[in-house]
Amino acid sequence: MPISPSTSPSGVPFEICGNPGEVAAAAAEFFATMAVEAIARRGSFAVALSGGSTPRLMHDHLTREPLASRIGWSRAELFFGDERAVGPDHADSNYRMARETLFDRVAIPPSQIHRMIGEAADLAASARDYASILQSQLPLCATGFPTFDLILLGMGPDGHTASLFPGTEALDETRLWVVANDVPQLQTRRLTLTFPVLNAAKNVLFLVTGQAKAAPVAEIFSTERGRAHHPAGRVRPTEGRLLWLLDREAAAGLPEVSL
Ligand code: 6PG
Repeated sequence: MPISPSTSPSGVPFEICGNPGEVAAAAAEFFATMAVEAIARRGSFAVALSGGSTPRLMHDHLTREPLASRIGWSRAELFFGDERAVGPDHADSNYRMARETLFDRVAIPPSQIHRMIGEAADLAASARDYASILQSQLPLCATGFPTFDLILLGMGPDGHTASLFPGTEALDETRLWVVANDVPQLQTRRLTLTFPVLNAAKNVLFLVTGQAKAAPVAEIFSTERGRAHHPAGRVRPTEGRLLWLLDREAAAGLPEVSL
């Protein structure tokens, strides 16, 4: 499905799909296209999956024909953009959601699924270990950051993305690739990729649906100030492509929204 994005006044490329199912279908098609391109270009496809609930529908599309056999799963390396401080079987685990909706339904070699160890007692050490995996698996960009072929992201109603939450220390990280981030508003810690890694990606795709996201979307899309105010707005790939896929509800605050 060719995607011809619009661009918001603040410079955000976006496409509005009617409903969450259409967002998921468009995202799955984009995922498959990026996979085919990366494998043709360099023999491998490195993708960081998003947590939360929105990606579930997209994962389902990836496990069904025609996309399932279009994607060379044996050449895919699966990573995570963030993880909660829980084990792989916990209900809140991003890994568990991906395992149930994707990994258990396509033929990805287990050694090519790279889980963030959220249950580690020393979360900072777990972040360092994950950065070592990125070092060993990914090419580096000109400024020395690991380059994903595709990073999938969502956005919370507070404008967070991955586990880069408003007012948290990780927002200011410019050197480390993965950090353990204290999130006082959730009274928890999270593992997350940092902005330098997100912005080094060749492609970043946001999946944002639901009325609860309409306000931050409108602010991020309207002005440079509004964009910079929200963590999700600060994802601006240096050389890569950025695309936001929105459903009608998440786009409701945009002027002259026409579908
Ligand atoms: C997480 C995600 C987070 C998510 C947003 C949106 O670990 O929760 O990485 O950034 O993408 O919170 O979540 P929903 O898709 O559930 O709205």
